[in-house]
Amino acid sequence: MEERVMKALMRPSVCYLVVVVFVVVAPGCAAFNPRMLFLVKPDPIVLKDHGGLVLTGNVTVNVLYYGRFTPAQRAVVADFVRSASAPRPPNRRVPSVAAWWSTTALYRGGGARLRLGMQVLDERMSLGRSLSLDNVTALARAAGHHRGAITAVLTAPDVLVAPFCMSRCGIHDDAGGVGAHGKARYTYLWAGNPAQQCPGQCAWPFHRPVYGPQTPPLVPPNGDVGMDGMVISLAALLAGTVTNPYGDGYYQGDAGAGLEAATACAGVFGSGAFPGYPGKLLKDSVTGGSYNAVGLGGRKYLLPALWDPTTSRCKTLV
Ligand SMILES: *[C@@H]1O[C@H](CO)[C@@H](O)[C@H](O)[C@H]1NC(C)=O
Ligand SMILES: *[C@@H]1O[C@H](CO)[C@@H](O)[C@H](O)[C@H]1NC(C)=O
Repeated sequence: MEERVMKALMRPSVCYLVVVVFVVVAPGCAAFNPRMLFLVKPDPIVLKDHGGLVLTGNVTVNVLYYGRFTPAQRAVVADFVRSASAPRPPNRRVPSVAAWWSTTALYRGGGARLRLGMQVLDERMSLGRSLSLDNVTALARAAGHHRGAITAVLTAPDVLVAPFCMSRCGIHDDAGGVGAHGKARYTYLWAGNPAQQCPGQCAWPFHRPVYGPQTPPLVPPNGDVGMDGMVISLAALLAGTVTNPYGDGYYQGDAGAGLEAATACAGVFGSGAFPGYPGKLLKDSVTGGSYNAVGLGGRKYLLPALWDPTTSRCKTLV
C-alpha cells in the first residue's frame, strides 16, 4: 500500500500546489520537488508551453464540499468561481476577480470561461476523515465528471488528506473515466481548508509564516482565515488546471513538479512583493481585511499573482 501511495505521489502529471512564500525548506518538499529548493527565484521566470491541451471555452467547475462547511463558507467559494468570468465592473479602477482571471486568457487558446456547476455536499464524509490521494480521485469521479469540466474537492479543516501538511496545500491532476460520451480524461483538484492544518504554509499571509520574517498576519477579507486561505489555493489550482490540465501545457521545470501559472508567482499578491511581504494590497476600511480583487456583490478576495505570458512577469492587479 505504501508503494501505491508513493506511486500516486510521484505520478508525473500531478501538479502540487506548494506555497513558496520564501525559501521552501519543508522536508516533505525536498523529497518530491528538488526544483523548489532554490533560494532566489530565477528571473524572469518563463513557463514553457509544452504544446499539450489547455482548457478553453466554457469550463464548468463542480465543487464537492467534503466535511462540514457552513453556508457562509460555501458562499465564499461559489461567489469566487462565479466572479471569475463575470462581466467586468464598469469602474475599472476597482480590480475585479474577472480582471485577475483574464490573465489566463493571454495563454495559448485564449482562456476558459468558468461557470459554477454542481455543488455537492458530503458532510458525513463518505470515505472517512482520513483520505489518500486515490480517495480524492474517487470522490472527484463520484461527484460527476465530464470532458471540459473541473471537479474541485474541498476538504474541511478536520479532514486529513495524506500529503497535506507536507508542504502541500492542494493538487490538481487528471484521470481517465468512462462518461456518457465514452472515455475521457477529466481534471480535478483538491484544496484543503488550512485553518487547523498548516496555516503557516497554506493560509499565509493571513497566518504567521512557518519560515522567514514573522510579519503580523493580515486580516482575511471574508473574516475566515481558513476559507480565505483556501481560496488562494483554489485560485492557484484553477489557473494551473486551465493552463496545464494534463501536465503537458504551460510549466517550468519537471513535469508534475514544475511551476505553473500561479505557483511561478507564489508569495506574490501585489506590486512590490518580496519574500515575506505579499506586496501592496487594498484594505477594507470597515473590516480591515486585505484584498486585491472584488467579485460579484462586492465580495473581496486576496488572489495570487499570475504569470503573464506576454511579459514573462507575475501580473498583479494592485
Ligand atoms: C458559452 O457560454 C455562453 C454563455 O452561456 C454561451 O453564449 C456560448 O454559446 C457558450 N459557448 C460554447 C462554445 O458553448
Ligand atoms: C482510499 O485510499 C486507500 C489508500 O489508497 C485505499 O486502500 C482505499 O481503498 C480507498 N478507498 C476508497 C473508497 O477508494
